[in-house]
Order: sequence, then C-alpha cells, then structure tokens
Amino acid sequence: MTTGTLEPSEIDLTDWAFWARPLSERHEAFRALRQLPRPAFFREPEQSIMPTGPGYYALVRHADIVEASRRPQDFCSGNGAINITDMPPDLNEYFGSMINMDDPRHAKIRRIVSRAFSPRMIQRFEDQVQAVADQIIEEITAKGSGDFVADVAARLPLKIICDMMGIPESGYKTVFDNSNIILGGGDAEFLPENDEEYALKLLQAGQTLKDLVEELGRHRRENPSDDLVSALVTANIDGESLTDQELGSFFILLVVAGNETTRNAIAHGLKLFTVHPDQRELLLADFEARLPGAVEEIVRYASPVIWMRRTATRDTELNGQEFKAGDKLLLYYWSGNRDESVFADPDKFDITRDPNPHIGFGGPGPHFCLGAHLARREIGVMFRELFRHVPGIRSTAPPDRLLSSFINGIKRLPYEL
Ligand code: HEM
Repeated sequence: MTTGTLEPSEIDLTDWAFWARPLSERHEAFRALRQLPRPAFFREPEQSIMPTGPGYYALVRHADIVEASRRPQDFCSGNGAINITDMPPDLNEYFGSMINMDDPRHAKIRRIVSRAFSPRMIQRFEDQVQAVADQIIEEITAKGSGDFVADVAARLPLKIICDMMGIPESGYKTVFDNSNIILGGGDAEFLPENDEEYALKLLQAGQTLKDLVEELGRHRRENPSDDLVSALVTANIDGESLTDQELGSFFILLVVAGNETTRNAIAHGLKLFTVHPDQRELLLADFEARLPGAVEEIVRYASPVIWMRRTATRDTELNGQEFKAGDKLLLYYWSGNRDESVFADPDKFDITRDPNPHIGFGGPGPHFCLGAHLARREIGVMFRELFRHVPGIRSTAPPDRLLSSFINGIKRLPYEL
C-alpha cells in the first residue's frame, strides 16, 4: 500500500496495514467507499482455526446501516455480530451473549438483563459515577500529569461494571487485563500473532471473567440480596432468570460492550477538546446547556465501535442493492457517522450540532445499545467534573492508538493539568 489518498480499488479493510494508517487517511478511504454505487466486498481475514468464508460487504452509508439494523428478520445477529469469521454457535453465545442472538432468545435475555438498567439501578449507578469521578479528580489534581487512559478514562466504566456485578476492587485488574485481551484486535501488545495461541488466550480470558461472576451468581441464588446479580439469577414474575452460563456471558458482554467503548469515548473526548480549543470554550461558556450535545458529538466523532456484523437470512434487497442468503454485512458506524448526506461538514467536531442523528450506539432496532443512557451519564459526569476542577486539562501528545478494525481505541494519552 502506498501512503496518502487511496483509490477505492486500493482499499482493503481486511488488511491490518489499512487500520495502521493515520486516522485522516482512513476517513478519506471511507469517504471514497461511500461514493461507490454498490457496497464494496472484501475478503475474509485468514486464520487457521475456522474455515475462511468468502468475505463481507461493507455498509458505509448512514441510510444503509439504519435500514439493516431495522430489519433483524432479514439481517440477523445470530451468526455473529462481533466477529467476521463464523464461529460455532455456542462460542458466539459464550463471548457475545445477546449481541450474537436473534429473537426470541435475544428478547428473553434482553428482558431479563434490562433489570440492570431499570431506573432504580441506574440511579444507584449515577450516584456511584459521581463518587468515582470525584475520587479520580482528587487523585489527578495531586498528580498533575500522567496517562489519561489509566488515570481517568479507564477507571470509571470499569468500576461501574464491576459494581454492577458485585466484583470487589481486588478483581478490577483481572477484569481490566482480560477485557484488553478480548478486545485487543490485532494489537501485538495484547495478543499473540499465532492463531492457536490467540484462540487459547481469548478463551482463557473469557473463562477468567466468567469464573469471577459465576461463583457470585451461585452464591446469590442461594443468598439473594438487593443487588443486580441477585436480580438476574432469581426468577421474575414470569419465572425468567439467567443460568450461571448466561450470567457469565452477560458479564463478558458488559465488559466487551460497556467498558472499552466508554473508556475510549472519554479518552477521545479529551483529545478532541485539546485539538479543538474553540469547542472547549464554547462548552465552558454554557456548560449545562451544551453538555448533552457535546457528549453526542464525542460519540459520533469518535465512533468507539467501528462496526457490527449482520448476516442476510434470505435473498433480499436493501435500499436497491441485492443480497443473497448468507451474505455477511459489516455495518460501519464510524463511516455512517461521517456521511456527508446526513451530517453537514462531517469532519468538523461541533458540539452544537443539532440534530445529531449519529449511530455510534448502533442503528434503530432490537440491539440498540442497552447501556447508551449509562454511557452518556458516565461521559457527561466525567467531563463536568474535569472541567469544573481542572478546566485546563489537555493531552500533550498524539494518542497511542490500538491497532484494531473493530474498536477505535486509545491505549495511552499523556495529559497535564
Ligand atoms: C460510548 C459507549 C458505548 C458505545 C459507543 C456502545 C456501542 C454499542 C453498539 C454500536 C451496540 C449495537 C450492537 C448491534 O447493533 O449489533 C451496542 C450494544 C450493546 N451495548 Fe453498548 N455502547 C456503549 C456503552 C455501553 C455501556 C456502558 C453498556 C453497559 C454497561 C453497554 C451495553 C451494551 C449491550 C448489553 C449491548 C447489546 C444489546 C443487544 O444486543 O440487545 N454499552 N453498544
């Protein structure tokens, strides 16, 4: 691959070299893909564990992503939403819980785990979000500089998810390290290059996380208390509850879906307010009124989740394009979020953008992010506290980026106050 602007024929979304390119070049490439008359088709990543399938279509336009998300009967998640290679169904469920399921099973699990996001539970987390943010501010004020990801961005989402599941502080590091492995993408810092070793490490990471909560689940089933795990493992009025296995998988999903995503949104936020000081000033000038818009714009601009997959369940069409049963489609949220036909001046970070119909939390449909409200709260509270106490906080060097085609991750981001 050459450097600079790529012709559509030179773009290979499966090539790690593409994802190692500067962000601006990758966005340029997606701009070119959005102009194509038909979604481009890419070969599948080769690996030696499972048979390599034929490939996938890249849905890059906002309207196509929205439409595919709205039609789960035609574009399902059950064959895998977070992996391109087809995996055995039990492994899909093991790692992805309901994100890799279709109705009616998806609806059942979602109904049960929605208890985690009931107003009462959310209120409880909101109090915690505030308390953790206060503690973080106190510590960084004393420190003055450091790595923003470790000192700030990673801590809040991790603590919230661990608290949700009743994991004590002694377990945080285990959760952090293993979630980095599961979402390590192609980054050698987290995963070995060898396929077998990679699979083994992934499975071990999953097992470690499951063991942590399954034990808790067994205990709570026998001794229920007023916490979330008890609510999940004891039956509701319809007799529905999670099995140990389902509880373990739900925890992996929370770690996968709710931890790294929010962490990266917060880290991107600091970078964005550093390189766009005008937007920081705008926010500070009318903080409470502009904060909700700023949070949405961070999620649109950063798009922490780059894509999710769907599979065509039958021969069908989508906005005039035909697809065959079994075709894999990758819904590139981060491209839809820069679609010039929906967002004026899409590469501008503009916290006053209104309306902002971004799809950073997924498109409309049964899988729309269950934690969107909580994530917005976490990001909002964190920036409120940061800008209230250390309004000059800024990143001092470009972010050290995660090499991944799936998560728009920041591994380290130096900051000073
Ligand atoms: C900025 C932060 C976040 C982003 C960008 C994000 C993004 C997404 C996206 C794109 C999906 C859609 C999956 C699909 O359509 O296939 C999703 C689903 C989901 N998210 Fe989030 N998420 C965030 C935070 C959270 C948090 C904090 C939690 C929970 C603590 C969470 C829990 C979930 C769950 C459980 C699902 C699966 C829903 C289902 O399959 O029915 N997310 N998220």
